[in-house]
Amino acid sequence: MRERLKRIIRKLTWTYNPATEREASDSTARNFLLHWFPAKVTAKSMSFSYSMLLGTIILTLFSILTVTGLILMFLYVPSVERAYWSIKDLEFAIPYGWFIRDLHRVAAQLMVAVVFIHLVRVFLTGAYKHSEKIVGSYRPLNWWIGLALLIVTMLLSYTGYLLPWDQLALWAITIGDHIALSAPIVGAAISKVLIGGTIIDQNTLIRWYVAHVFFLPVIIFLLILWHMWRIRKDGGLAVVEALGIERIREDKVVAKAKTYSLMGIVTGITPTITQYRVRGTAVSSSPNLTRRVLLTFVLVTAAAMALTFLFKAPLEEPASLMWTPNPAKAPWYFLWLQELVADTTIRLKGLTISGGFVGGIIIPTVLLLFAAAWPLIDRTPDQAIGVWFHKSRRLQNAVFLLVCAVIIALIYVGAVMRGPYWHLYMPWQQWIKMPTRF
Ligand code: HEM
Repeated sequence: MRERLKRIIRKLTWTYNPATEREASDSTARNFLLHWFPAKVTAKSMSFSYSMLLGTIILTLFSILTVTGLILMFLYVPSVERAYWSIKDLEFAIPYGWFIRDLHRVAAQLMVAVVFIHLVRVFLTGAYKHSEKIVGSYRPLNWWIGLALLIVTMLLSYTGYLLPWDQLALWAITIGDHIALSAPIVGAAISKVLIGGTIIDQNTLIRWYVAHVFFLPVIIFLLILWHMWRIRKDGGLAVVEALGIERIREDKVVAKAKTYSLMGIVTGITPTITQYRVRGTAVSSSPNLTRRVLLTFVLVTAAAMALTFLFKAPLEEPASLMWTPNPAKAPWYFLWLQELVADTTIRLKGLTISGGFVGGIIIPTVLLLFAAAWPLIDRTPDQAIGVWFHKSRRLQNAVFLLVCAVIIALIYVGAVMRGPYWHLYMPWQQWIKMPTRF
């Protein structure tokens, strides 16, 4: 009886157990989906305590967004007359329409948050640093690809914000447009490209829709492929450096006698292939890593579905340029910018310093430039690569965490403490009563 029960459990769970290392490597090399994984990985780079599997969590969220997004495309109509009502249909008329919409929204919010946490983890483990030890690796490149991924993820989420065409959407986009307009010289041109004219209307909606369902997802998909390929080229996650695993380059001549020329126009060359030999201990990625990835996919999907029942996606009144909600707020991940804009607007007698320019453009640009240049500036030793809170990185980790804490505090102030006319309220204080619309 016990044996039978065990057999049933094994059938229902994971049954793949390769008998030899060769069989395990073959399974990754021959299978189209598993080909994505390297044949071998170190136990440490699979461990939750190093990467917290955050990248895999992001990949799961992106997959959920792609599937739910494709379903939503059958039901959503990108026209200013029909967009709002197609969302209403999703909420109230189409079976499980609310579930698909809410799951899409929950996954989008989570993705922005987890991408940011992943960046923090990469910084604190010094995983963006270059070292000479692993031949062919150049980790700063993946940090830069990551920064591009962060920007595109935020843009993807922001463009989706407009699509319901309700008050929340319209005014959040208006705030973004005002920040763009405050840039000197190019401001008006950027705003024109963003909203397709001088007011937010059908031109804006169709632009943002096409960006949201086609251009940005394609860009993010290609960047993810590049990001994953770079991890392979870098010899695995940075923790392998801390474990003393080396990648040694070997150039091999494929066919000594044979040369390849281009129809006799150019002289022929003897082709060589570059192989990397890994020195150090590692385990087969199938089933060790594949099992973890699958489990993460299942758990994250279940968690996102559960959150869908807790957090309803908002839908306010239809968009109207005739009536401004007070306060009008940007999405939470841009609230720190909106807060900076308010805090850096200074009026001194006849002179006004534009907060839109200082807080909305200068400060985030400087932060981004610093982040991009950091792998080149950081001079901490190679021993700090792939190690959480290495002692040689104490100062820079502290400054980095301080900047993150300020951003989170500004988001909190913007989300909870800003009331009508952007006045500051303590969480327990009542907001002043605003006149109703009619
Ligand atoms: C759509 C967004 C992103 C996806 C899907 C993604 C995916 C991944 C995955 C799957 C890994 C393997 C390790 C892990 O699971 O954590 C990884 C590692 C890495 N990511 Fe990302 N990532 C994204 C955004 C970012 C961002 C914003 C940065 C930083 C600016 C970044 C920088 C890196 C670096 C440097 C590594 C190598 C880490 C190491 O060697 O320990 N990524 N990413």
